[in-house]
This record gives sequence, structure tokens and C-alpha cells, in this order.
Amino acid sequence: MSRKELMNLQEGAEYLNISPDTLKVYIKIGLIPAIKTKNNWNIKKKDLDEWLKREMAREDVKRGEKILHPVITFANQKGGVGKSTSAINLGAGMAMKGYKVLLVDLDIQCNATHALYRELEDDEKSLSDVILGREDISTIITETHTRNLYIAPAGENLSLVDMELAQTMNGDLSRLIAALENPIIEFFDFIIIDTAPYLGLLTLNAMAASDYIIVPVACEYFPLIGIKWLLKSIQKVRNLTQRDIEILGYLITMYDARERITKIVEEILNDQFGEKVFNTKIRKNTRIKALPLERKTIFEYENMNSSGYRDYLYFTNEVLERLGYDLNKEEG
Ligand SMILES: Nc1ncnc2c1ncn2[C@@H]1O[C@H](COP(=O)(O)OP(=O)(O)OP(=O)(O)O)[C@@H](O)[C@H]1O
Ligand SMILES: [Mg+2]
Repeated sequence: MSRKELMNLQEGAEYLNISPDTLKVYIKIGLIPAIKTKNNWNIKKKDLDEWLKREMAREDVKRGEKILHPVITFANQKGGVGKSTSAINLGAGMAMKGYKVLLVDLDIQCNATHALYRELEDDEKSLSDVILGREDISTIITETHTRNLYIAPAGENLSLVDMELAQTMNGDLSRLIAALENPIIEFFDFIIIDTAPYLGLLTLNAMAASDYIIVPVACEYFPLIGIKWLLKSIQKVRNLTQRDIEILGYLITMYDARERITKIVEEILNDQFGEKVFNTKIRKNTRIKALPLERKTIFEYENMNSSGYRDYLYFTNEVLERLGYDLNKEEG
């Protein structure tokens, strides 16, 4: 006996074996399309089947040793803590080791786009078009000057997208999830997302699409209050999307062993988060400031003996280890 092609909320929930309330949330945040009727929803069986297929594929991958094409987001609503620098140089480190990396620039400041590619013209296609569903992500991905490192670039109009997501899209959290459900993603080993210093809808979309989150923490402020709100947001996104979103680790940046605040921040993080704190610390290093202007990654700008090169190399190794990947990709 074949099921009805069009189901209401109750029938759809039974079909997926979830509660009607959960299905309502999925519909609300855009994970499953549905048309609202007077006092119920019309949901196409085809859309439910597609959702099931996607979830089953995710589960299969998660049951294996490692997630394929993991999506890693750098997030901290505190500004200037090293999100962009670390996203770019983790990407560059992985690329140097033979992995293919896509950097998704979801920050309205477009720092990663400017540093690795160039400023976009106003009328150029960019991530804004992808998030708003006007372009397929494969049409905007472009090579950078670094081998194996690719970017989905952002233009300044990204700053309007947050508003659009809030006003006309009901706070949709599935825009980036949908954008990354694209065959081109199979080409990449890792997807790294850089986010803006606020917990807006773009950042929440990034979290929703993430398997892992890395939280850079600068040794310049007392970090815990900010992190508390960050963790609450991540939990909210987990609850709404029912996805596993794991904190891969806390990365200490702007580390200067001579400064008292550095010791304090390190102690606080170790106390609170124990092994989740990466062993590698990114030392304070004024040469890092030159990277965006030079349009170079740390591995291109520095030599192997410099602290910046070493810190980001060790950080890259630690991330690969935590994800269960080899330190160098075997070719072929
Ligand atoms: N280890 C470091 N030592 C010294 N300066 C650094 C270091 N890491 C980053 N910087 C510099 O600090 C500034 C902020 O870094 P970055 O842009 O990576 O932070 P961010 O968290 O992405 O900032 P935003 O929140 O504005 O996006 C930049 O000028 C960058 O060059
Ligand atoms: Mg940034």
C-alpha cells in the first residue's frame, strides 16, 4: 500500500517517527518544506523522503571512524580574537598537507575573501546569493593562490542578508545546510567557515551546518561570560536542528607567557574545559598582522622556524588528530 503523496503534520510526524512538535520546528526553521493551510500543514511525502535520506547518510558517516567532509566553524562573538586568522591558516595548513579545503567566508567584513582572494565588485555573485537561494554554491567557489585552498567568497552585501533572513525568511537556520548539500562538496576534504563577531542569523546558520566548532579565545580579556552565551546559542541551534554539533576545542590566541592576563586566561580555560583546550597556543606575533595586506598565508609569509609558522602547523596537526585524519593526505 503506498502512502499518501501529501500529508498533514500528524501523518508526517508518524512517517518520520518523530513528534509533531519536532516536525513543526523542522518546518519552521526550513529543514523540511511545507505549505501552511488554514489549521495544518501540507507536506509532500517526497520532501520527507529526501530528509530521511539525508539524515541516514549523515548517520552512516557518523558511525564510521571519521566524518567525511567535516564542516568546521570558527566562532566567538568577541571581536578580534583570531577567528579569521585561524580559519585561514588552518585551511592553509591542511591544504599544505594535501587536503582540499573550502573556506566559506560568512563574515560581513569579508576578511578571508580579501586576504585569500580579492575584494568583490558589487554586482559579482557571492555567498549572499547562495544563502538567499539565488545561486548554487558551485558557481561562486573559486581557487585561491594557495594550492588546494578554495574559497566561497563574500561581498559587502552580506551585511544585508542577516536582515533578510530575519525579516522574510522567518529566521531560517537551514540556508547554509541547503547550500552545502551540493555534489561539489564531495570534492573537498574539509569545509571551514569563518564567522562574524556577533551571534546573528548568519552565524547561527553556520553553526547549524557545522559538525564541529572551534572557539578561539584571545589572552586579552576574561573570556567566560562571552563563552557562556556562545555555548547557549550552540545548544539552541542543536535543539532546533537536532544535529550533533561538537565543540572541537578552544584555541588560545595572542598568547604571551610574560603577561599575567595570559596565565589567567589559560588557567580559566583549563579549569573549565580541560582537554577541550588545544595544546597548541597561538603566540602573539606582530608579523601575523601583515598577512592580509600581503595576501599570504602564514606558511607562505614565514619560514619553518618562525613562531607563527610553527604554531599554526602544530594547530593543524592537532585538529587533524582530533578528527581522526592522517597528518598528511595520502595521494591517489
Ligand atoms: N597571534 C596573533 N598575534 C598578533 N596579532 C594577531 C594574532 N592573530 C591575529 N592577529 C591580528 O589581530 C587582529 C584580529 O585578528 P582576526 O581578524 O583574525 O580576528 P577575528 O576574531 O577574525 O576578528 P573579527 O571578530 O573582527 O572578525 C588582526 O589584525 C590580526 O592580524
Ligand atoms: Mg574575522
